[in-house]
Amino acid sequence: MTVRQRTQVGIIGAGPAGLLLSHLLALGGVESVVVETRGRAHCEARQRAGMLESTTVELLRAVGLGARLDAEGLEHDGIYLQFGGQRHHVNFRELTGGRWVTIYAQTEIVKDLIRARVADGAGLEFGVSDTEVAGLDCDRPLLRYTDAAGQRHEVTCDAIAGCDGFHGICRPAIPRGGLRTVAERTYPYGWLGILAQAPPSTDEVIYCRHEDGFALHSMRTPQIGRLYLQVPADEDIARWPDDRIWAELRRRLAVPGWELETGPVLEKGITSMRSFVAAPMRYGRMFLAGDAAHIVPPTGAKGLNLAVADVAALATALIRLLRDGRPELADAYSDHCLERVWRATHLACWMTALMHVVPGQDPFESALQLAQLRNLVTSRAAATMLAENYTGYAPLRYDPDTRLAPTALWPWVA
Ligand code: FAD
Ligand code: PHB
Repeated sequence: MTVRQRTQVGIIGAGPAGLLLSHLLALGGVESVVVETRGRAHCEARQRAGMLESTTVELLRAVGLGARLDAEGLEHDGIYLQFGGQRHHVNFRELTGGRWVTIYAQTEIVKDLIRARVADGAGLEFGVSDTEVAGLDCDRPLLRYTDAAGQRHEVTCDAIAGCDGFHGICRPAIPRGGLRTVAERTYPYGWLGILAQAPPSTDEVIYCRHEDGFALHSMRTPQIGRLYLQVPADEDIARWPDDRIWAELRRRLAVPGWELETGPVLEKGITSMRSFVAAPMRYGRMFLAGDAAHIVPPTGAKGLNLAVADVAALATALIRLLRDGRPELADAYSDHCLERVWRATHLACWMTALMHVVPGQDPFESALQLAQLRNLVTSRAAATMLAENYTGYAPLRYDPDTRLAPTALWPWVA
């Protein structure tokens, strides 16, 4: 027998997008149910992004999620750009008049969000299967799923939020012709990422272009490093024992007088790289947010930040629609988000092309990369362009009419 339920917003996916949306909706008095295929422990341990734009940090603080982020996040003024064996600091705070970036792992944001949703008594179901959406082009769309105990549910909703990542079911549920444009680019390389019990060897993140490929030195805490190496897209991780990874990181990241700290590798994996945008981010009463609608290569550290920006806009739009009966923001949602998505997509693609070296690469291409990198570390105008795009764009504005800042839109929690 199917259990029938009612909620205002059915949210598919308990990643950062789905969980934050549920939190923001609750602040605005809108009820939601979140369903997630994986278990809670898996969601809390999945190693992914780590770099937050200052606008993301400000939003999380404004909505009551800043306590641990402020205590444990590592605030950085900028990044290092390394090429030709030399390392250069780019100071974003100085170039943008005060904007910064913060290292705080996605795992920690997800933990904070789950804790807050559970404390709030939210409808949050882990370990579901056979998720389905139906009736998307009417006012009462349906969310169906089987819970962890095998019970089938049908939830009648006012709106559905597809926050189920790139491989989810929501985007494919849009009938043929419902997506106007889908743009995609794949890359012949991926990132081999490690999490290591090794204190960071640098105070701020290093993006390194090396003749043999890109390397990135990031971190999670003062004790834990997060490092990446460019590898071929179809690389077999078995070919990369820990010693080989450290030797290659040491070689690519080398500058005179600097030592790379090493330590036990806690986790490793290869992530393929892709750029993808689906539009519009809405079909009838279903709204897509985060990776369900768009993917960027990780070089610009934009994926998680875009997911947060989407749901900030979507929460406001759905509160206006469902609480106040005003559809303008819901109607503007896709265009509003896609403006930011395309800017971030450009930054991510541009940084990817600038920093990665393909084996046998045309020397002309290499010379162009180096000329651009030299320009970035010698021209204030060029560095400011990077700084403005990397640290986030205008404060997360939700309302295309008033361009309100987060604190103005969420005055009851500011
Ligand atoms: P997700 O985090 O993918 O969450 C979607 C959720 O939906 C998942 O929990 C999934 O299990 C669930 N789900 C899927 N299908 C269903 C279903 N049918 N029913 C119910 N639930 C479902 N970004 C960076 O900025 N820097 C990085 O270093 C970086 N590394 C990454 C590494 C990997 C392997 C991946 C996949 C992404 C990485 N990203 C990175 C991107 C960033 O992590 C994402 O942009 C971010 O997770 C997007 O959040 P989301 O909530 O939209 O999607
Ligand atoms: C990370 O810390 O995992 C990280 C940082 C910067 C990026 C990508 C990932 O561009």
